[in-house]
Amino acid sequence: MTNQTHEWWKKSVVYQIYPKSFNDTNGDGIGDIPGIIEKLDYLKELGIDVIWLSPVYDSPQEDNGYDIRNYRQVDDLFGSMEDLEQLLDEVHQRGMKLVMDLVVNHTSDEHPWFVESSKSTDNPYRDYYIWKDGKENGDPPTNWNSVFGGPAWQYDEQTGQYYLHIFAKKQPDLNWENPQLRKEVYDMMKFWLDKGMDGFRMDVINFISKDPSYPEGLDGDGSPYFMNGPRIHEFLQEMNNEVLSHYDVMTVGEMPGASPEDARQYTDPENEELNMIFTFEHMDLDSEGDKWNLKPLNLIELKENFEKWQTKLHGTGWNSLYWNNHDQPRIVSRFGNDESYREKSAKMLAICLHMMQGTPYIYQGEELGMTNARFENLEDYQDIELLNMYEEKKAEGWSHEELMEAIYVKGRDNARTPMQWNSQEHAGFTSGTPWLQVNPAYPEINAEAALQDKNSIFYFYQRLIQLRKEKDIITDGNFELLMREDPVVFAYKRTNGNETLVVLCNFSDQQAGVAEELIQTIQAGSVVVSNDQEQKNRGVLEPYEGVVYSV
Ligand code: NOJ
Repeated sequence: MTNQTHEWWKKSVVYQIYPKSFNDTNGDGIGDIPGIIEKLDYLKELGIDVIWLSPVYDSPQEDNGYDIRNYRQVDDLFGSMEDLEQLLDEVHQRGMKLVMDLVVNHTSDEHPWFVESSKSTDNPYRDYYIWKDGKENGDPPTNWNSVFGGPAWQYDEQTGQYYLHIFAKKQPDLNWENPQLRKEVYDMMKFWLDKGMDGFRMDVINFISKDPSYPEGLDGDGSPYFMNGPRIHEFLQEMNNEVLSHYDVMTVGEMPGASPEDARQYTDPENEELNMIFTFEHMDLDSEGDKWNLKPLNLIELKENFEKWQTKLHGTGWNSLYWNNHDQPRIVSRFGNDESYREKSAKMLAICLHMMQGTPYIYQGEELGMTNARFENLEDYQDIELLNMYEEKKAEGWSHEELMEAIYVKGRDNARTPMQWNSQEHAGFTSGTPWLQVNPAYPEINAEAALQDKNSIFYFYQRLIQLRKEKDIITDGNFELLMREDPVVFAYKRTNGNETLVVLCNFSDQQAGVAEELIQTIQAGSVVVSNDQEQKNRGVLEPYEGVVYSV
């Protein structure tokens, strides 16, 4: 049974806002906090419970705010502290909650701690970051590559040492071995929670504990030595004990490379660490090696992956459920069909995810079925990861066409094109020039049109969110995968006491048959929700049909 007062996040649906691309009110082409306030009624109408706000802190914006210069200040780009306080207040007035992004694996190199730290080897802040001597031949301390390309170590002329940056050069990693640093982070967290914030999404939080022996990585891959590192559980328990346990908040840790076993440890309430984590396993199935080496999705792998997470965390930890965020391409273009079956497949994907156990996350525009953008020129893109990748892979011999194709399929800017509010210029996102072009699909795909159409994807999400509130089985029931070997149908059963739901999703543009033994079960059932309006033969799923039966 869900403990609804303390564990409100188990019944919640979260909506992620990427502020830069959400809604611009001052015409500078960049979304802002007043723009979010303006759209709160829209979010209330959708029915979500919690907003996760990607970083709005003061930042040089090398990585769109995931490089923080001042943790206690709002970036002028987005507004003021007063604006943020007003946002929090208005969110609360509408019965919703607001969760901040906590980026504490690294800061910006313009953070005063780093500015001090770089001054000399005996500066009091030196040990806030990870500084090491190079190898005898002057090479970096290890062969690790950074996530955004190039080596993960940057040489500093002034002090003759290297600092570690798992991401960009301008994102130096903090040294969590230092208790003083940890205390500063905890104080900063309290600063926000004391203002009334309702929790944190924690950026790459399983990277904060590094293997102190700094071994060489296989082919430059240092991740085994910084993902889920030796002191990670200790640090998270300390954070929980010092900060989180004193507030009624929710936490979700972004954790690339975490297995379901890791996730159990991180999210088992007995361990007092986090409420849930973001896994990457289901997002890695359509690539090989790095994410740019594309391969077609094998649906059976996707099904078995969800099965693993659903069953292994059931009764112990808690899952997050997501298809999209600011780092992932648009799901309807990825696992659905953004041409002939855009609405149908977007709804099917929503059913497939929202009927599982966990806390669902909706990324801005997902509720409209927003699609990937194919911009013609590389210059039309902005993302540091994508631009660095282009240079690096070009040098390795990839052709321009191959690179653009990879960008169309996987680039992070697919998620970051401005929110499509209406069919006016720049999709109603700004009266100025948007920082990143609007997806040319906006005249058709936009919020105004969706709100006027009772069959829209928007209202479908609204219905799924309501269902989660109405039916405890969605939150509490167990999960059983059905039709395991079927290459196009994702089918599963949820059971809670004597209640059962059967979920059937066709991931193809062809009709698909339902397994014989299931047909009998669903014949007698009633339809809970479906993206197919007609009364029909229950033994056959139409292209991209998604349907839930109560049996
Ligand atoms: C994960 C964030 O989601 C991503 O956008 C960012 O670039 C990296 N962490 C570094 O902070």
